[in-house]
Amino acid sequence: MSYTSNPTARAVLNKIVHDPRYSDVMHIPLVSIPQFILVAFSLGSFSLSCIAYLNGAIPLGLAILINVVAVYVSFTPMHDASHRAVSSNPRLNDFIGTLTGQLLLPGVNMTTFRAIHMDHHRFTGEEGRDPDTGFVTPPKWAGVFYLMFADFHWVHWYLRYGRKIWSRHVATWLFIMLASVVISHVAFLMSPWWKEFLLLYVIPQRLGLGIVAYVFAHIQHPEGLTWENEPFQSTVYVRGNSPWRRLMFGQEEHTIHHLLPHIPWFKYRRVWDLANGTLRNQNIPSRGWFEGPKNIITPKPSDNEPVDMRVVEINDVAENIKTFTFEAINSPLPGIVEAGAHIDVHLNNGMVRQYSLISYDAEKGRYHIAVKCEPNGRGGSAAMHKLVQGDIIKLGPVRNNFVLYENAKKFILISGGIGLTPLLSMANRLHEISKPFELHMCGRYKNAIPFADEILGGALAKQAALHLDTENGRNSIDLDAVLGNPSSQSLVYICGPQGFMDWLKNEALKRGWKDENIRIESFSAPIAKDEENHHFSVKLAKTGQVIQVDPKQTVLDALHHAGLDVPYACMQGTCGTCAAPVLSGEVDHRDAYFSDSEKAANNVMCLCVSRAKGEELTVDI
Ligand code: FES
Repeated sequence: MSYTSNPTARAVLNKIVHDPRYSDVMHIPLVSIPQFILVAFSLGSFSLSCIAYLNGAIPLGLAILINVVAVYVSFTPMHDASHRAVSSNPRLNDFIGTLTGQLLLPGVNMTTFRAIHMDHHRFTGEEGRDPDTGFVTPPKWAGVFYLMFADFHWVHWYLRYGRKIWSRHVATWLFIMLASVVISHVAFLMSPWWKEFLLLYVIPQRLGLGIVAYVFAHIQHPEGLTWENEPFQSTVYVRGNSPWRRLMFGQEEHTIHHLLPHIPWFKYRRVWDLANGTLRNQNIPSRGWFEGPKNIITPKPSDNEPVDMRVVEINDVAENIKTFTFEAINSPLPGIVEAGAHIDVHLNNGMVRQYSLISYDAEKGRYHIAVKCEPNGRGGSAAMHKLVQGDIIKLGPVRNNFVLYENAKKFILISGGIGLTPLLSMANRLHEISKPFELHMCGRYKNAIPFADEILGGALAKQAALHLDTENGRNSIDLDAVLGNPSSQSLVYICGPQGFMDWLKNEALKRGWKDENIRIESFSAPIAKDEENHHFSVKLAKTGQVIQVDPKQTVLDALHHAGLDVPYACMQGTCGTCAAPVLSGEVDHRDAYFSDSEKAANNVMCLCVSRAKGEELTVDI
């Protein structure tokens, strides 16, 4: 149902939105100069060409050509306005979108276009739910000429499917749009200027709409693939030489737009940078302007299945700590090995445990982890310590929730005991790319920390420090020296026992570090599937109204159906536009927008994706 239920897309998205630079990328000012330039260009060139033709200054052919270009350009600000990416002021944003949109879609209003377009985003490729599938595979009888009548297609889609789905509010605005189109066209065609209207407006508008639908819809999605199942294959990037690509104003990377719809067109490249290489590994298909994508590699169900591995080496490296080296028997693990990544180990007693990777030898297909035996634990580490060389064991895919954002200026890595393992892989990576970092290893005594001697005697020695005392290093680490210079350009990574991580995070916050600059290791929680959703009710504190939310609906859908005009922009839990204060009830947070501490505070939620854990929520709207 929602984008966030796809684990791969969610993992990539988490990587992007938790980058400290994300807030800057998603910032929308009151007046955005690049958007203003496009609006001024499209409206200005259209008006001037009409005036010039009517005064005999330019021939008809040139006037039509200029107007087609103006119509084409008008799409980008109108489309961005539907995602509230034109102005931080909602009224100004919608006014600009509606005004510019008149060139492309006469009579258009943002309520209607936003509803149509968001259904495309939420249900990309799903026949009957995505209003744009008809542009990807237009009827044979019409071919690409069908695209010139995209608005007719949407009305047909609404009558066939949309009216069962959309709220009365959207339906009303759709009919207002249709009425204004009919009235304006009839009025002009019956007036003495009917010929000029036809030549300077209707023809360029139809041609421009056809080009827009071809460039921004028809070639952007391969046939038959859905965002829900194949998020990275259901969108394409358009190959081509740079002058042609520039005609798309940077929007040739359509996956970026579907990942983060509320990011304006001129910032797509920056999102690509935030993804830090992960997108490159997702098999996003490419295509030419007139040539469809070929040999699309879609994810196989087996990609997430555990793989048999052989234990080839076990070593005692510290008190109760052993390292294990696993070697691939047939194929390496799915997923990308990066600093901070972890694997699932499926133990013979049925338990599944997550362990951070210390390193990976790609040549030999060998994965290296360290495990501390917890005698009072639930048996996972004890079962690990019973493994012997030659055992065959199943390992799950490589995943990473503890991403190293390599673009930060400086890194402070602090570990408690065995928590050193992911930080060691980070320290090695930062050393390799020559980034400034400090590695602080805390523990009760040296033998409680794996690899301490190796680190202090090796290449990382200059950046590493040991803090030992009976309180897991808490009394000997000088927090003012380590955390005393908070910076939005630096990142603090902490890994160790939960109490140790909470204590350090609090100390960092007290010293002025921002929440988003402090990263704590947490292994991924399973993501709820739609079928696990339950029915609940939402009470609106301001009116006392109680809205029922069924398992197939989002809270936002239910509120819209009840006639409430709640703002939204991405419908994917990444922009915060739909955020609402929560007064009671426990929230099942499914967004990527709020930080962990904001989620834990349980006083705000993204209505577009998050749900209730219990039977009822009260929101302050
Ligand atoms: S609409 Fe963007 S977070 Fe809900």
